[in-house]
Amino acid sequence: MANKGDGGEKATLHVRGESHDLNVLKASIGPDVIDIQNLYRRTGLFTFDPGYTSTASCESQITFIDGEKGVLLYRGYPIDQLAEYGDYLETCYLLLYGDLPNQEQRRKFDADITYHTMVHEQMRAFFQGFRRDAHPMAIMVAVVGALSAFYHDSTDINDPHQREVATRRMIAKVPTLAAMAFKYSLGQPFVYPRNDLDYASNFLHMCFSVPSEDYHVNPVLARAMDRIFILHADHEQNASTSTVRLAGSSNANPFACIAAGIASLWGPAHGGANEAALNMLEEIGTPERIPEFIARAKDRSDPFRLMGFGHRVYKNYDPRARIMQRTAKEVLAEVGDPNDPLLEVARQLEEVALNDEYFIERKLYPNIDFYSGITLRALGFPTSMFTVLFALARTVGWIAHWREMISDPSNRIGRPRQLYTGPVMRDYVPMSQRGAGLGDQVHDTDRNPES
Ligand code: SDX
Repeated sequence: MANKGDGGEKATLHVRGESHDLNVLKASIGPDVIDIQNLYRRTGLFTFDPGYTSTASCESQITFIDGEKGVLLYRGYPIDQLAEYGDYLETCYLLLYGDLPNQEQRRKFDADITYHTMVHEQMRAFFQGFRRDAHPMAIMVAVVGALSAFYHDSTDINDPHQREVATRRMIAKVPTLAAMAFKYSLGQPFVYPRNDLDYASNFLHMCFSVPSEDYHVNPVLARAMDRIFILHADHEQNASTSTVRLAGSSNANPFACIAAGIASLWGPAHGGANEAALNMLEEIGTPERIPEFIARAKDRSDPFRLMGFGHRVYKNYDPRARIMQRTAKEVLAEVGDPNDPLLEVARQLEEVALNDEYFIERKLYPNIDFYSGITLRALGFPTSMFTVLFALARTVGWIAHWREMISDPSNRIGRPRQLYTGPVMRDYVPMSQRGAGLGDQVHDTDRNPES
């Protein structure tokens, strides 16, 4: 896959009286890149890019985002077409293997996933160690990492067969663990997966059925759930995917890498934004309070941000947000709440923001998290489960990137450098010669951590 770029376009760097020609590597679509892999060896200089706003961390063929146009492609297929005509397991196959499956490939893949949805019975004990009010994301980080303790026979990252087994185990079992985390928080018994249900229906069944009565999955809600999984499946080198790649570059086992991705996704600036966005809409409560929150979002002295708004890459409407808004209306109509007041607050908040110079100037648009909370709440999930659902769906994207990295022969451990501006070398100072110094500035909490 390595795109060498020899003989092609060059970028010339003039620094400290020397000129250095750097290869420009060509993209199939989107920005080309300047290859700086040998820059330090040739110049003794690092590049500096905290937050990686101008840095390509890898070469990839999985997902492409055109932030200016608001375009998202999974292996070249537009997200709106996949959401309209496909389903989540087909999308999993596409992301993992590079193209849409034929009939036989689809049948075999579905069977492999369906017949591996149960988890080792002893995993149930893990949940007992948590308080019932533990955040389900805390449980997910723990139990997904614990999979490596139960499925040790698929942790050798150098064995393609074991990588394949781990891949299918995680796609099959993460929904079961997510449903178990939900049931545990409710104090209800775990519900085993059923092999006669499709992926999304099975998940809803494990979440909402109870032993005391029959549960029939609503096909409209199952279709909405499946579409939500498609929308969240992958998004190139976002924070959690980059976390998985960095963890995987040390040859950590795949279960540990995906657990690291779950931990990173939890942050409210990333996957935790769906929970934060719904909490924000509930705090706003009525359209009359929108101006107050818009003012706070614009006030640099106020840490408040409009949750579900803005994006590092999208400087246009997030295409997933449009599909999610439509899905929200479908689900609300189906559950008999077409006039959910929060949807109206969200709609008016979006309208006000998109006509405000502050948001226009910074190209801040709704992202996938802006409408997902309303939809997920209408499906019956509490806000604490929203990011768990994001993690469930993104598991395939994390695994696809992990596989792409592990199977790349040029793969090596990720080890960024730094711009060091700390103290230069100095000799040790005996206690008798130390002045008042920093010690006097230690805060009470540091002295008494339990305070
Ligand atoms: C996801 O990367 C991915 O692909 C992620 C994701 C995926 O599928 O994996 O798409 C999922 O994480 C979506 C994003 C969810 N997060 C939120 O909705 C949280 C709210 N949004 C922001 O925190 C912010 O927009 C980020 C984190 C999403 C992006 O931050 P950036 O790119 O670092 O932008 P920035 O913080 O430098 O902001 C640029 C300016 C700043 O103002 P100025 O300093 O120029 O005056 O825009 C302002 C920011 O203050 N700004 C906002 C804002 N987002 C940015 N102001 C108010 N409300 C906001 N939401």
